[in-house]
Amino acid sequence: MKSFIAELPKAELHLHIEGTFEPELMFKLAERNGITLPYGDIETLRTAYNFSKLQDFLDIYYQGMDVLRTEQDFFDLTWAYLTKVYKQSVRHVEIFFDPQGHLIRDISFETALNGIYFALKTGKQELGISFEIIICFLRHLDEENAFQTLEMALPHKDKIIGVGLDSSEKNNPPSKFAGVFKKAREEGFRIVAHAGEEGPPEYIYEALDILKVHRIDHGNAAMLDPALIERLVKEQIPLTVCPLSNTRLCVIDDMKNHPLPRMLDAGIMATINSDDPAYFGGYLNENYEAVSEILGNSPALLAQLARNSFDASFLENSRRKLLISEVDNYLRKHLSKET
Ligand code: HPA
Ligand code: ZN
Repeated sequence: MKSFIAELPKAELHLHIEGTFEPELMFKLAERNGITLPYGDIETLRTAYNFSKLQDFLDIYYQGMDVLRTEQDFFDLTWAYLTKVYKQSVRHVEIFFDPQGHLIRDISFETALNGIYFALKTGKQELGISFEIIICFLRHLDEENAFQTLEMALPHKDKIIGVGLDSSEKNNPPSKFAGVFKKAREEGFRIVAHAGEEGPPEYIYEALDILKVHRIDHGNAAMLDPALIERLVKEQIPLTVCPLSNTRLCVIDDMKNHPLPRMLDAGIMATINSDDPAYFGGYLNENYEAVSEILGNSPALLAQLARNSFDASFLENSRRKLLISEVDNYLRKHLSKET
């Protein structure tokens, strides 16, 4: 199954670019920027990646991103991610970044955006990977701060397709950001939100009804509510599921108990994503591998997940169709070899 997954064309729709910051690059950029990390070496840093909940991770994730200071740093970070996933048959990426995580450190919106954007543009030209950028609001901050951030995004509508919501979910419901997402919709941005990772099904309802999302990021808690499952199926609202993230953050206790097979059985448009691969032990292929067994090592189901990733994307229709037909042809070739 590993080799089938390796060459399966796929898209990544839930990826925090700051979460791709590998310790090796972190130490290199820290040195370049004259920063002393609170860890003696790479190994010591990695041993800190032991999380029992989302907040444990977020504390380390914000500390890690403090090393990112210049446009070149954001370029190098994004370029390292692209060259890695190019080798994983990733054809399209929709990348999140956290402007407020940088603004708070006096790094301008444009410093981060331009570094990320120019790397993605280079990746499109040199590696053929199409892309979109989504900014995320940090939900532990107030709505006014999100409004200020949205204002900064307005001159960059040509580079930014959408607006999302991330960071500490508990006690920060989507409804806290009703006003700023209304404005984002009026400005023409696509809308996504993390919901139902650690929060209850109610937060998924709020994301749908108040923020009016096109996709739910994570969405695991939907499986607790049959009426919500039915609605996600009926409206074909995609979920961007992140298996390795879920086990590393103890959202689920064991991959064997991951709800993905039940989601697919129910008819939910689930996709597989890596979330913060440098922290959670794997990029996109490793996430597909992690769920392969609970899907019965079925090439057809893995191909369905890849098809869903293009279906759920913000790609324009001609490329979407092209990439879906690549998946279909790949599966057909694989199955004909087997018989
Ligand atoms: N959840 C919430 N916020 C985040 C995550 C996540 O998985 N990754 C980066 N920011
Ligand atoms: Zn996430």
